[in-house]
Order: sequence, then structure tokens, then C-alpha cells
Amino acid sequence: LSSAHLTGKERILADNEFIVSKTDLKGFITYSNEVFQRMAGYSEMELMGKPHNLIRHPDMPHCVFKLLWDTLKSGKEIFAYVINRSRNGDHYWVLAHVTPDYDSSGQIIGYNSFRRSIDRKVLETIIPLYAMLREEEVSHGDLRSGMQAALTKVTKILAEKGMTYDQFVFSL
Ligand SMILES: Cc1cc2nc3c(=O)[nH]c(=O)nc-3n(C[C@H](O)[C@H](O)[C@H](O)COP(=O)(O)O)c2cc1C
Repeated sequence: LSSAHLTGKERILADNEFIVSKTDLKGFITYSNEVFQRMAGYSEMELMGKPHNLIRHPDMPHCVFKLLWDTLKSGKEIFAYVINRSRNGDHYWVLAHVTPDYDSSGQIIGYNSFRRSIDRKVLETIIPLYAMLREEEVSHGDLRSGMQAALTKVTKILAEKGMTYDQFVFSL
């Protein structure tokens, strides 16, 4: 299960397939569908109760997850491109739509993620962008200040484009 192990082989999600998972407030998996289990290479029982970073790929900038958690905790949904790592070290790209899940009194009780296949052409933008953000993150002494610097960078890029993060995602 070492995160250092990667095959370089990409798994492709079919256009008519959706990866679904639900988590509790801390990001521990409470539900996964069969497509999730197949793409990630784990059984339903192996995923149940595990932290969602189980499938985190090392190329994924931490600042994107910071943005994701900040957005969700503020009660809003977010769309993001994500590269994930399968159990055997393969990887797969998705466009994730992540939303808070509310109870009848309006309290956030967990989070849901619905992921679909990507349009290949977005990778021409996303791969170099994420590589640049990762480089920024590791160029600082500690992860926290690296992540903050990368977040500042992405915020500046969005400000220059006059776009919110979601607008940027859908402009690709
Ligand atoms: C509903 C939901 C779905 C998530 N899906 C993924 C995912 O597919 N891949 C991933 O790496 N992180 C996902 N995360 C974020 C992880 O919880 C975690 O923040 C991230 O992997 C970064 O790992 P770290 O917190 O250990 O730095 C998800 C979080 C939530 C709330």
C-alpha cells in the first residue's frame, strides 16, 4: 500500500460510468459504489471507514484539497479535477463534484462525491498547472507553508483570469 509505488498506467473511466462515494464529516468513507471499488481496486469492506486519502495520488496538489475542504465546510459544493491512485499503483483522472450532505435541520452530516470521466483536452492545462503547484509546495521547508504559497499562486492565477475556481474548471 506504499504511496511511492506507481505503475504509470492510466485507467480510463467510461463516459457512462460514475464513481460515487460518501464520507462522514472527517472524510472517512461511509459508502462506495461498484465503479469506485473497481477503479480503486478495493472491496466495499476495505473502503468502509477508511480515510479518503487512501487513494491520494502524489501528483495531486495539497492546496486543491485545502480549497475543497474550505469550500465544503462553508456549506458549498465544489467541482475539481482529481488524479487518484489505484491500489496497484495505476492512476485515473476524474472530474469530481463534491457536495455537503445536510440533515432536515440544516446541519452538515457528511459529504458526497460524484465523479465522471474527463475531456482529455483539459489535461493539457491541468497537468502542467498541478505540476507547478506541487513544485511550489515541495520547494518550502514544511508542507503547510508550501501549501499556502501554492494556494496564493492559484488564487492569483484565478484573479488574473477574473474567474472563480468553478468557472475556471468549466472554462477548460
Ligand atoms: C466526499 C469527499 C471525497 C473525496 N474524494 C477524494 C478522492 O477521490 N481522492 C483524494 O485523494 N482525496 C479525496 N478527498 C479528500 C481527502 O479527504 C483528503 O483531504 C486528501 O486526499 C488529502 O489528503 P490529506 O488530507 O491526508 O493531505 C475527498 C474528500 C471528501 C470529503
